[in-house]
Amino acid sequence: LRRQRQMCIRDSHTPFALATDAAKVIADQTSISRHDIALTLGSGWAKAADLIGETIAEIPAGDVPGFASSGVPGHTGTIRSIKMANGKHALVIGARTHFYEDKGVRAVVHSVRTAAACGAKVMVLTNGAGGIKDHWTPGTPVLISDHLNLTASSPLEGATFIDLTDLYSSRLRDIARTIDPTLDEGVYVQFRGPHYETPAEVQMAKTMGGHIVGMSTALEAIAAREAGMEVLGLSLITNLAAGISPEPLSHKEVIEAGQMAEPVISALLAKIVAAL
Ligand code: HPA
Repeated sequence: LRRQRQMCIRDSHTPFALATDAAKVIADQTSISRHDIALTLGSGWAKAADLIGETIAEIPAGDVPGFASSGVPGHTGTIRSIKMANGKHALVIGARTHFYEDKGVRAVVHSVRTAAACGAKVMVLTNGAGGIKDHWTPGTPVLISDHLNLTASSPLEGATFIDLTDLYSSRLRDIARTIDPTLDEGVYVQFRGPHYETPAEVQMAKTMGGHIVGMSTALEAIAAREAGMEVLGLSLITNLAAGISPEPLSHKEVIEAGQMAEPVISALLAKIVAAL
């Protein structure tokens, strides 16, 4: 009996049970039983939430099971339910847990699993990132076509063999390009951070086929695919990656580049989301 009870306790604490609990709270607080699409808005993308549609409800992330309010400047901490003009419901997650926070990879992908538990079939993951292609000036939005996961971690536990061949859905990228045909794309390389890369690490990423360096999206995309969602990934190039430009990197400049680009890329994202 003791073992049985222990099993029960363990089951109620699986990451999926926690995501289901979070989804229940979101459904209760928003009165929307099912969301169609979810977005994680990284640095530079937050304003998109105001342009996607009519905000039905906004919940402090800290009120939802498994979420902690973000302590990173430039990362807001709410979960918003938005009704789009086409009648679809979007869930906007403005709270991201980064791998470098050392809260474990379950915490990193909890928002994605919650989005899936809320019913979302499409997960839009956005971030601010460094660019390896030197013609990507700060403020350029780029579609993510694939990734290199250099975190040495995975959100999948046990023998969970998930196909990642078309992880960043070519169908969704095509739709995004119908909105802006000039959108370039590239391979996102996730480093652990929180330090920015050394120039040598950026050269390594480039040699391995990478074009964008960041600290978030790859682990989330894997969890989204495991949950059966289709993934659209977008990076805002906030800076050229270390050593690509001779300029040193600063978090302040990364945030400022995001703020400068925000109106344009947020409008772009709102149009893309309406077409998904
Ligand atoms: N590297 C990693 N993450 C980032 C960068 C970068 O250059 N810029 C913004 N986020």
